[in-house]
Amino acid sequence: MPVEVPEHPHWPQLSNFEKQQLTTRIKKLLIEQDATLVAHYYTSPDLQILAEETGGCVADSLEMARFGSKVQSKTLVVCGVRFMGETAKIINPEKRVLMPDLEATCSLDLGCEAEAFSQFCNNHPDRTVVVYANTSAEVKARADWVVTSGIALPIVKYLAKQGKKILWAPDKHLGRYVQQNTGADILLWDGSCVVHEEFKSAALERVRHIHPDAAVLVHPESPQDIIDQADVVGSTTSLIKAVSNMDNVEFIVATDRGIFHKMQEQAPNKLLIECPTAGDGASCQSCAHCPWMGMNSLQTLAEALESGSNTIEISAELREQALRPVQRMLNFAEQQGIHIKNRGNA
Ligand code: 13P
Ligand code: SF4
Repeated sequence: MPVEVPEHPHWPQLSNFEKQQLTTRIKKLLIEQDATLVAHYYTSPDLQILAEETGGCVADSLEMARFGSKVQSKTLVVCGVRFMGETAKIINPEKRVLMPDLEATCSLDLGCEAEAFSQFCNNHPDRTVVVYANTSAEVKARADWVVTSGIALPIVKYLAKQGKKILWAPDKHLGRYVQQNTGADILLWDGSCVVHEEFKSAALERVRHIHPDAAVLVHPESPQDIIDQADVVGSTTSLIKAVSNMDNVEFIVATDRGIFHKMQEQAPNKLLIECPTAGDGASCQSCAHCPWMGMNSLQTLAEALESGSNTIEISAELREQALRPVQRMLNFAEQQGIHIKNRGNA
């Protein structure tokens, strides 16, 4: 399903002086507003550093969802894409949830419109509806379970063991990966991530040839021919862990390049190589960087805190419906002891 992709913003090149002025301004606003930053690994290094310096978190989408309720602050500032802000609000309705840019969405979310999805579910009433977290609150409200890439496999294994047939949306690549690794009967919605969709398999083969000792790390939103070449397939957290834990010195990384900041911080002596895309000069729309994650910057964050206008609002009724499948995921993670926080050398 084609979606409209904005021109991909490059992280703004600020002088050290400008960065310092902005971070000082933001730190003051965070204290004044009793606010905590919750940032994804794909956001700019400036935001990741600031989130950690101010007691916030930098994490994958599962941990971002869990972090909000662990802090006392009245406001959560979610640096990431819209579904992450909505999930934070669904779990923490009493908190104000703010985002640097409310237009920061996700091609998976855009490609799974709630009414069409609901019709798809109605056509398959015998199936348990499992949706990826990268969806709107309305789509979550129609689901039995919400999963992130960090917890999709154990949840679907658990459901398959009970003989459940699954309806999966929206990411067909992750859905197929889950199907292959659980043996579950899964009916797929036809959606994909514009960033991971652009990795090129023949070009990856050439890079592997040049770096024969490099381990290939792949996010499961990538197409089959990229996953086929992977040494590790997993969530952003597990790919970061792999760089620290594996003996290899070189890694070819097939996911958004924002993740390099945390990988390099945790393993400064390792060489990280981008999995090739078609490249800026060709038809590449995202070139290994999510155009919507790129809307988060020190400037947009400062402006959002100052204006207070980018708050996430969800009606009580919708929130209640969307919370059920999200809470199932969180309870499952708790019961299974799935602790995926990636701090230090975890
Ligand atoms: P993670 O849950 O692995 O952080 O992935 C979120 C995402 O949007 C990847 O493109
Ligand atoms: Fe969505 Fe892909 Fe961006 Fe992740 S990288 S937020 S899946 S468009």
